[in-house]
Amino acid sequence: MGNDRYITFALAKGRLAKKTLQIFEEIGITCDEMKDESSRKLIFTNEDLKLRFFLAKATDVPTYVEYGAADIGIVGKDTILEEGRKLYEVLDLKTGNCKMCVCGPQSAKELLMHHELIRVATKYPNIAKDYFYNKKHQTVEIIKLNGSIELAPIVGLSEVIVDIVETGATLRENGLTVLEEVCPLSARMVVNEVSMKMQNERINDIITRLRKYIDEKNA
Ligand code: PRP
Repeated sequence: MGNDRYITFALAKGRLAKKTLQIFEEIGITCDEMKDESSRKLIFTNEDLKLRFFLAKATDVPTYVEYGAADIGIVGKDTILEEGRKLYEVLDLKTGNCKMCVCGPQSAKELLMHHELIRVATKYPNIAKDYFYNKKHQTVEIIKLNGSIELAPIVGLSEVIVDIVETGATLRENGLTVLEEVCPLSARMVVNEVSMKMQNERINDIITRLRKYIDEKNA
């Protein structure tokens, strides 16, 4: 057992996967097979390094890792917090930096201050609940949406939203603003709990190389 086994990576599809693959390339974790964007293949292998990679919907990455279908996952802190899976978070990749915020029109600031019973639209009901109930001790009604969250206060579905703010452009263009900051976010590496023990040497080697690269880049 051990060294003839593949280490499997689950990467959150989209912007994050692109950035992650660039970083991996820099430290010699390569997968040429993955560069063919016209391919419909779902899983890619580097036979020499005994590595496998697959792309998954971000919210599914922690699930693959908890069950050990992937040894390692690269996914946003937002998804890790929201999914609440049993796994180890081992490294901050310091890329994809953004913030989880309570946003809305300026007029909603007053409602927040006075702990009014407001409606909160979000793709992240668990993060929103934890923030309002446990941190702010404020009762709110949480409405789960699946995208274009900024629409909610504009069309009157909710007073505020809990959502990711990166450049702030989406808010600005829709007359909304950050009212409160919930937490900073970035891409993280997560590891299956059993893999961490059984494949300790190989996984630690990957973590060490990644950490060195990230520290040097952010020095
Ligand atoms: C995210 C987020 C905001 C936007 C923030 O949405 O939900 O809408 O990006 O970025 P900005 O501050 O740079 O404007 P995404 O594009 O991922 O799609 P979604 O609306 O389907 O969630």
